[in-house]
This record gives sequence, C-alpha cells and structure tokens, in this order.
Amino acid sequence: MIPDDQIEQIRESADIVGVIGEYVELKRTGTDYRGPCPFHQGTNRNFSVSPKKKIYYCFVCHEGGDVFTFLQKRLGLDWPASVRLVAEKSGIEIREVERSHREGPDPRARFWEMNAAAAEYFTRVLWEDAGAEPAREYLAQRGISREVADRFALGFAPREIGLMRAALNALGYEDAALLDGGLMVKPEEASEPRPRFRRRLMFPIFDALGRHVGFGGRVIGEGEPKYLNSPETPVFTKGKLLYGLNVAKLAARREERMLVVEGYFDAMRLMAAGIEEVVAPLGTALTETQAQLVTRYAQKVYLLYDADPPGQKAAFRSGDELLRQGAAVHVVTLPDGEDPDSYVAHHGADGLRARLGEAVDLFERKVQILERAGWFGDLAGKRRALDRLLPTIRATADPLMRDIYIARASEASGVSRELLAEEAKRNPSRSGASRARRDSGAASEDARAPRGEAMGPPPGMNDAPPPDEPGFQEQFQRRPFRPRSGERRRGWNQPEERPSIRGWGRTSQPGALTERELLRALMHQRGSVDAVAERIGPDGFRVPAYGRIFRMLLQVGEDASLETIAAGLDDETVRVLQEEVLVEPESIGDPTATITQALNGLRIREIDEEMERIERERSIAADEEKDALTARAKKLRDEKRALGGKSFRTQGFRKRRA
Ligand code: CTP
Ligand code: MN
Repeated sequence: MIPDDQIEQIRESADIVGVIGEYVELKRTGTDYRGPCPFHQGTNRNFSVSPKKKIYYCFVCHEGGDVFTFLQKRLGLDWPASVRLVAEKSGIEIREVERSHREGPDPRARFWEMNAAAAEYFTRVLWEDAGAEPAREYLAQRGISREVADRFALGFAPREIGLMRAALNALGYEDAALLDGGLMVKPEEASEPRPRFRRRLMFPIFDALGRHVGFGGRVIGEGEPKYLNSPETPVFTKGKLLYGLNVAKLAARREERMLVVEGYFDAMRLMAAGIEEVVAPLGTALTETQAQLVTRYAQKVYLLYDADPPGQKAAFRSGDELLRQGAAVHVVTLPDGEDPDSYVAHHGADGLRARLGEAVDLFERKVQILERAGWFGDLAGKRRALDRLLPTIRATADPLMRDIYIARASEASGVSRELLAEEAKRNPSRSGASRARRDSGAASEDARAPRGEAMGPPPGMNDAPPPDEPGFQEQFQRRPFRPRSGERRRGWNQPEERPSIRGWGRTSQPGALTERELLRALMHQRGSVDAVAERIGPDGFRVPAYGRIFRMLLQVGEDASLETIAAGLDDETVRVLQEEVLVEPESIGDPTATITQALNGLRIREIDEEMERIERERSIAADEEKDALTARAKKLRDEKRALGGKSFRTQGFRKRRA
C-alpha cells in the first residue's frame, strides 16, 4: 500500500505534460498545453493539460482528471498500478507501508467496507422505510431532491434499536466490528449494544481518496445534539478530514480556489448548484492538518461563515491557520441570518458567485471590524486592536502578504511600519503565547461550543480578552477547593500556612486570597460592607462566587441572618460561603486591620495592572503621548509606595503572621 501523502507527492512532482505527451501530441498555448482528445478521438485541439494545476480536461467530451486517472483510463491500469507507473516515470521511489508479512488486505479496509455497507443500508431505509417519512419530508422541505440526495449518498438511521444491527449482522458484520467502527455503542460493559445514530439523516463522510470513513448524522425532529459524528476510529479523525474533499479537490485545482463552509448542508447545496470547489470541516474550526489539505489543492481560499459572532470567530480562527500555510484568505460576508445553504437556495449559484466577487481579504476584514467599532480612536484601544492584529500578521507565512498587512495596520493605527514589523517579529508576549495555546486547543473542539459565550467587543474577533482577566478566573475556577478532612488536619499544624486557611487556597492568582480574606473579615464586621463597596464598587470582587456573596451582603443589609444570606445564593455559592468564607473564624484576627490591608492590596493590584497597560501603550505612543504616560506612571508609583510599596504578587495574606 502506498501512503496517501506520498501519492500526493507523486502527483505534485509528476510531469503531467511529459506523461500525457507520450500519448497525445501536445502544443503549448499560454500556460497550458493543447492537443487532440484521445478519449473521444477528437481532431481539434480541445484537450487541455495544465502543468500548474496538474490536471487534464477535454472541452468537448468533458473527460478530465489527474495524471493517475489518465493512465488508468488510457492504459486500463488499476489505481495502484497507475500510481507506481507515474512514480517510476518521475523517479520517485515508493515506500510501501509495511503490511504484516503474510500479504493481507489493509487492516483499515474492513472499516471502509463496513461503513459503505452501513451507508447502503441507511440509504435503503431513507427511501423505502415507512419510518423514514419525516426524513423524506425534511429533505423535500429543504429543497433537496432525490437526485442530489443520492449524489451525496444520504441515508436515514432508524429510530428502532435492532434494525441496523440485524441488517449488518446478516451481511457478516459482527457486533464487535460494529462497536469498533462506531456504528454501535455499549453504554456499559454489560449492556446490549445500541446504535450510535438513531432518527438521524446520515451524511457519509469520505476521505480525500473517496474511501468511506464515517458519518455525520443530523437529528430529524427534536433532539440533542443536532449533529453527531462517528467517534474517532482507525479511519476517522475529525480534525484530519474535510467533508466533500474527495469531489472538491479536482474542482479546486481547476478553479484555483477552495471555498470553506461550516456545514454539511452548505457544502452539499453548493456542490449541487455546480460550485464544486467546496469543503466543510466536521463541526470544528480548521485544524492545521485541514488547512494543509486545503492549500494542497488551492492557494486562494474563501471562508463562507455565518454572519453571527460565533461564525465570524470561527472564520478568523480558521483564517489564521490557513495563513500559516501560505494561503491567500478571503472572507465572504453574507446577509444576517443567511448561511451559504440558504443563500444559494434563495439567490442561486450566480448570486453566491457575485458575493464571492465581493469577498474581502481576511486581514482587511479584521481591520474593518476594529475600525467600525472605534478601536483606533485612542491609545488604549489602539494597543488592544494591534494585539488582535499582530497574531494574524505573525501567522502570515507569505512575506509579501505580511508586508501588506503591516502597511495596512500602520495606516489604520498611525503606528509606524517599522515599529509594527519589529513587534511582529518579536515572539508573542506571555499572554500571546497562552492565547495561542488556547486557540490551538480550541481548534480541535466543537466550533459551535463558543456559541452564546460572552465575548468582548468587537464582535467576532478571535482573540482573548485582556491577559489578566481570563487566567485569573479560569484558573481559580478550574481548581475549586475540595476539602478532604485528612488534608486539612495535616495543614493545621504547618506553621508556614498560618494564618490562612490550611490545606487549600493554593491558587497563585493575584488577588484571590486577598478577596477571600476581605470577605471573611466583612462577615465579622458587616457594618463595613457599604464602605468597602464605595471603595471598590459592587463588582470589585473578581472571583465570581465572592462577588455574588458580596453583592448579597450589600443587598440584605447589616442585620440579616446567615440563613437570609444563604437563601439568596445558588448552591455552589453557598458551598463557597461555607467552605471558604465561614471556616476557621478564629484565624481572622482584627477585622478592621484586615479590611484596610485587603483594600490596599486590591488597590495595588489595580495599580500593577495599569502600569502594565501603560508599559504596553508606551511602545506604540507618539512623543507627546509618551510624556502623559510617564507622568501617569510616576503618579501610580508614588501611590503604590504610599500604600506599602510591595508588588502585589509578593505581598499577601499567606505570608502574614498572626
Ligand atoms: N455541528 C456540529 N454539532 C452541532 C451543531 C453543528 O458538529 N451540535 C457542525 C456540523 O458539521 C454542521 C455544522 O456544524 O454541519 C454547521 O452547524 P450549524 O451552523 O448549526 O448548521 P445549521 O446551518 O444551523 O444546520 P442545518 O442547516 O442542518 O439546520
Ligand atoms: Mn444551515
């Protein structure tokens, strides 16, 4: 067996003009070569070979393909033989994938075959089974004809539990195989296997070579999740597959572009309408591997995502991945509420082509969004805007594009190109690095997961909020206190832990401990709650549960009982109140002193943060702006010194001695 990547390599390096030229008399016309078509025995030069796109095509009989299909058809070779022949002609030594010594079939073949058999079964159910009537109605209502459905081998997984199993068992696929292939699941070891897909419209998924690797299933009627894919199997890795690629790859070479849409329906609708150079990831933003796949076939990529913020966010994330692969990336903006599927249904393929003609470069689109949201209006906004643009500039592999982007960012922000180029060269800051990590992690998650998640302005931009906030809350929440009595007792006797709560609170987040001590002191001195709120505001606590408790204290007033306070809080917050705030009251000491110290601590946190911001703004500030920043920084330094001077991270309650 010849590995896929090597097949691509052979295709890329093959001299298609030379190979076909052995059978057809070709003459150069522009960048292509023309000759009489050997397939319909033409006499005029209607047969074209493109060395750039690595394809051939006859304008009369429409026969077309790549160097392998040419030899297959011309010489009657099978696929592997044609690959070997081309490799030989191109001087590439084929490294066959080791098979076990006894010459046997590819171990993955049973998965491909089983999936194909299942697909056939699902298709039969869709068109012949009475229970599939709702699915047929659904397709009709979405305007998907039988012909189109058949082209994509759509099917229906019945609601009944035993039908698919019986049908596939009868074909020789045992339960164990069906479980391996992800067609059935066993909720528990002892339970009967059940079908993974029930009452779903089934989209077979193929790999680039057209082998049947898995399914996506859309629920018909109510049910969650709306889409369900095959699980990871030896042939199905969702981050490495693209829906439609087996068809789109030839079209993409021909059209010199690839369209990327979000959904199966989008891809199917466009292909059915004659726009075949289209793929969809399987419910995720594009991964690195998928971006590589796309750019293998076309350098010009169009992203067609929903106009809503999550769609835009996914588009930008995918866009950076494509830029890393050297692609030229364009964003198509559809009217609100439309996706490519509905747009083509309403306006036809020509309508969509018109939108493609208006597509805007990905980076330009980002700048537009920031400009319209007024981010370039002041220095702080500028700094944040540039922080959102720089990762994209850094991702851009093509040096020319990179230069253009830097020029555009400079124009929008008024910051010099030299400075921006320098910033782009620099390794992303600490926050930038963690952001990149999050992005790459998120890329393998459901692109839809961020739906409904609160996002800072401007909508649709892909980056994280300012560096301090997310880490602060996430990390704190990720490691909630889980008291285990033994541990706490041990902690009790450790002097260095005194007087903070023993055995927990080991978070390194600046301010979390201070907030906790402040809250604890306030529980003992409720008369100070209002005064504290005046200093830090009702939202001055950043640990969410502490904030909820504090606001409740404000609301119920000084004399309310603990029961009243707890009654207004959700269970999780009550747990925090009991386990983190009310415990070990004897360690509090003098509440007034604690409150004062904590307020100073929180003010120092603010000062530290503003100093950091100033430092970052200074790097892009003009001279007169620099003076103002310097003056402000001095004022802050003085205030901090007056407060006790220690940097926030090193001062704190854990080190305080009782
Ligand atoms: N998707 C997914 N899981 C979900 C929802 C969506 O994996 N719970 C993926 C699927 O690959 C789907 C794509 O995201 O094709 C687009 O989803 P969505 O925009 O929600 O699709 P709609 O256009 O709303 O779906 P449909 O057209 O089927 O109503
Ligand atoms: Mn849709």
